[in-house]
Amino acid sequence: MEKFRVRGGARLLGTVQVSGAKNAALPCLAATLLTAEPVRLYGLPRVRDIVTMEKVLATLGESCQHENGTTTVTVGAIEAAHAPYELVRTMRASVLVLGPLLARRRHARVALPGGCAIGARPIDLHLNGLVQLGATVTVQRGDVVAQAPGGLRAARIEFPRITVTGTENLLMAATLARGTTVLRNCAREPEVVDLAQLLTAMGARIDGAGTDTIVVEGVGELGGASHRVIPDRIEAGTYVAAAILAGNGVRVQGCIPEHLTAFLDTLRAAGARLEVESDSIFVPGQGERLRAVSVTTAEYPAFATDLQAQFLTLMTQAEGESAITEAIFENRFQHVLELKRMGAHIEVAGRCARVTGPSRLEGTAVMASDLRASAALVLAALVAEGETIVDRIYHLDRGYERMDDKLRALGARVERYNPGPYQ
Ligand code: EPU
Repeated sequence: MEKFRVRGGARLLGTVQVSGAKNAALPCLAATLLTAEPVRLYGLPRVRDIVTMEKVLATLGESCQHENGTTTVTVGAIEAAHAPYELVRTMRASVLVLGPLLARRRHARVALPGGCAIGARPIDLHLNGLVQLGATVTVQRGDVVAQAPGGLRAARIEFPRITVTGTENLLMAATLARGTTVLRNCAREPEVVDLAQLLTAMGARIDGAGTDTIVVEGVGELGGASHRVIPDRIEAGTYVAAAILAGNGVRVQGCIPEHLTAFLDTLRAAGARLEVESDSIFVPGQGERLRAVSVTTAEYPAFATDLQAQFLTLMTQAEGESAITEAIFENRFQHVLELKRMGAHIEVAGRCARVTGPSRLEGTAVMASDLRASAALVLAALVAEGETIVDRIYHLDRGYERMDDKLRALGARVERYNPGPYQ
């Protein structure tokens, strides 16, 4: 199993290029199931979750060709409708194929994703919405079986709580439903807007993406399209955090700073200097002292849960006590134990982590537990004294494109290695 060896203390300098957003690319790939025509997607990150989604599409009869950063998805001769457990269990977002499969093929069988490291994460909101669109949904031998032999029909649906992939799933399903669907209490994440842009390019009629009410006028069929996915705001935020912690002048290039407003405001409140331009964020990072700031994660446009772990690492280096409250997921503090082993002062009570800083971190062997927790450990390793070994970096590879190469290009001493099968 591959690991990172990080020798802390190097100052980062230069420019890091942000990749395409994983969480935009995943629904865009699922949306290709809505048409028999080729869909061309630009800027998909080469990360593990995208490869998994491409495998899911392959089991459904689609093939993905890659050429010069473009992925073209086409439907083969056999259009299957079963996404198996072997794939779904490795990535919950596989459930995004449910809506499009049901809408176009009128039948879908997708393994129920199990729990995951960051919480129970049920899919009841997805399923209830599909039922309201006229589908019958049952669970058979661990698979969700959804059927709509006469096609889906429009409905007025209010999500009882905000869900990102739930909004995306129903948005896709509604594009081919008969009549006008109104979705209320929708997620407003930029990734939802990006998906709506692709769907619109495919011929869908959608109004209101990016607000809490989305109106979809169903059409008879969708066609092929070309689309570039938005840059990854979470990856960008992670490198901004790295630059504040260990930088001596780092430009995070090719991002949309507007997508990071709450995060950047919080960093400024903590005393970080940031120079924001239209598509980049420059962090002078001349070792200014950080102040503790408290945050609570919430749905977009508020502070993203996907940046909570990285921010927590940052707060281990800030003066004073910060309270970090995780309001989206019930179990997203797994990085805390490992950070404490490195010397951080953190107490967790329920959904709140209290971090007292600054603390001197020391390198040791740590274990990554989920994608963003892994990033938080790598950030800590950059400022820790001595060597840190980060184990299970396959979590990191699910969502960060070549993080080791990108950090090394900035001057970090990060090395990926494989210790062999017995270690
Ligand atoms: N929820 C339910 N029932 C549902 C759906 C969600 O109770 O049917 C709950 C969840 O358990 C959670 C909350 O609602 O407590 C919000 O979950 P949401 O559905 O919004 O999360 P998601 O769509 O499964 C996406 C991202 C996550 C990100 C969250 C929150 C993708 C592929 N995944 O997940 O990204 O943390 O939104 O912003 O878009 C990551 O990239 O590291 C990651 C975990």
